Amino acid sequence: MKIRRYQIKKEVENILKQGHPWIFKSHLSSAADIFKTGDLLSLVNAANEIVAYGYFERDSLIAIRVIKFGKTAPDAIWFKNKLLKSLSKRENIKQYTEGFRALHGENDGFPGIVFDVYKKMGVLQTYVPSVDPLGRYIASVLRHELNLDTVLWKEPSRRKKAGKTRILYGKEPKLIIVREGKLKVAVDVSEGQKSGTFLDLRGLRKFLSLQNLKGKKVLNLFSYTGTLGLAAEVAGASEIWNVDIAQGALKFSETHHSLDKKKYRYISADVFKWVDSLPPHERFDVLIVDPPSMASETKQVPVALKAYNRIYKRLLPHLKPGGMMIVCCCTSRISRKQFTDNAKKALISSLPKMKSIQPEDDHPVGFPEGDYLKMLIFSK
Ligand SMILES: C[S@@+](CC[C@H](N)C(=O)[O-])C[C@H]1O[C@@H](n2cnc3c(N)ncnc32)[C@H](O)[C@@H]1O
Repeated sequence: MKIRRYQIKKEVENILKQGHPWIFKSHLSSAADIFKTGDLLSLVNAANEIVAYGYFERDSLIAIRVIKFGKTAPDAIWFKNKLLKSLSKRENIKQYTEGFRALHGENDGFPGIVFDVYKKMGVLQTYVPSVDPLGRYIASVLRHELNLDTVLWKEPSRRKKAGKTRILYGKEPKLIIVREGKLKVAVDVSEGQKSGTFLDLRGLRKFLSLQNLKGKKVLNLFSYTGTLGLAAEVAGASEIWNVDIAQGALKFSETHHSLDKKKYRYISADVFKWVDSLPPHERFDVLIVDPPSMASETKQVPVALKAYNRIYKRLLPHLKPGGMMIVCCCTSRISRKQFTDNAKKALISSLPKMKSIQPEDDHPVGFPEGDYLKMLIFSK
C-alpha cells in the first residue's frame, strides 16, 4: 500500500508521545486537504523523522487514527503478531466463556476495529470507512487463528447503515447460545445491540451470579435482554423485575433469559418517568441502574448526570435494609471521576460502602477515552 507523508504540528507530536492514538481535524494543517479517506500516512515531525503511521478519515472529527507508533511501517507480519498478542491476553477469559471480545479497537492498538467471538462465529465491526480494508484483513487472520466457521461484518450504530450485517464467511445463524460461567446467554447478531449482546457487562454478571441472592427481590432497570436479571436468578433471586423501553428486548428476555418465568415481571416503560410511579411498599434487595449513555457530546454531561442522580434518589427509599444498588455508566464522555463523584453525592450517605467492577481482560483500557464503562456497587 502506498504510504503518504504528512508533517504534524509540534502539539500533535506531543499528543502522540503520550501514546494517544487520535489526531483531531482541528489539529491538521491545510496540507492534509489532499488526502482521501483510507490513505495510510507516515506522520513526520519538524525534524522530518517518522513518529507514527495512521489512517486518514475525511468526514470525521478524528481525522487520523494511529495504527503504529515509531519509524518502521506496519506490514502484514507486524499486524499478525500484534493480533496474536491481543489474543494471548484472552486465554483466561476463554476458560470462563464462549463469548468474548478478541479485539477492542484502540485499546488493543487497532483503532476503530472491534471483533467479537461467539463460539465458532466472529463478528467484525469497523467504526469508520478508513479502517474497513484493515478490518477485513484482520477478520481473515482471526478466522484462521480462532478456527471460526462464520464471520459476519456488522455496521455499528453510529454508521450510516447501522445494524446491517454482511456475511464474510460461512452462514449466519439465527441465534447463538453461549456459555458464560453458570449462564447461557442468547445472542442475535442482526437484531441485538453492539455485536449482539453486551459482552462488556460480563464482570457484573459474574459478580451477581456469585452472590447469595436466595429469596431476594431484584429491580433491573434498563434491563435490555435481561442478562443481569438472569445472573441474579442463577444466584437464587426469587423475584426479578426487568424494566426497559424496548418491548422487543423484554420479549427476548422472557424467551431466552429466564430459568423460571414465574419469577419475572416485564415492564415496558420509560424508566425516567416510571421511577416516579413505583408504589412506596415495593422494596428490593438489589437495584440495578444501567442507563443508556445520554451524552454523546461533552455539553450533555451535566444533564445526563442529573438524570442519573434523580433515579438514584427516587430508588433509595425502595431499597431494603442490607440491600445494594448497582449503578453503571457506558460513555467515556462522562469520566470515571465525574461518574463516581456524582453517584457518591447521591448515595454515599445512605450506602457508605462502594465497590467498583473493573473491565475484564477482553475489554482493556488503552487510552483515556477507552475507559467508557463504569460499574459501581453501593451498600451499607
Ligand atoms: C446500556 S443498555 C442496558 C444493557 C443491559 N443492562 C444488559 O444487561 O444488557 C441501555 C438500555 O436502556 C434502554 N433504554 C433507553 N432509554 C430508556 C428509557 N428512557 N427507559 C427505559 N429504557 C430505556 C435501551 O432500550 C437499552 O436496552
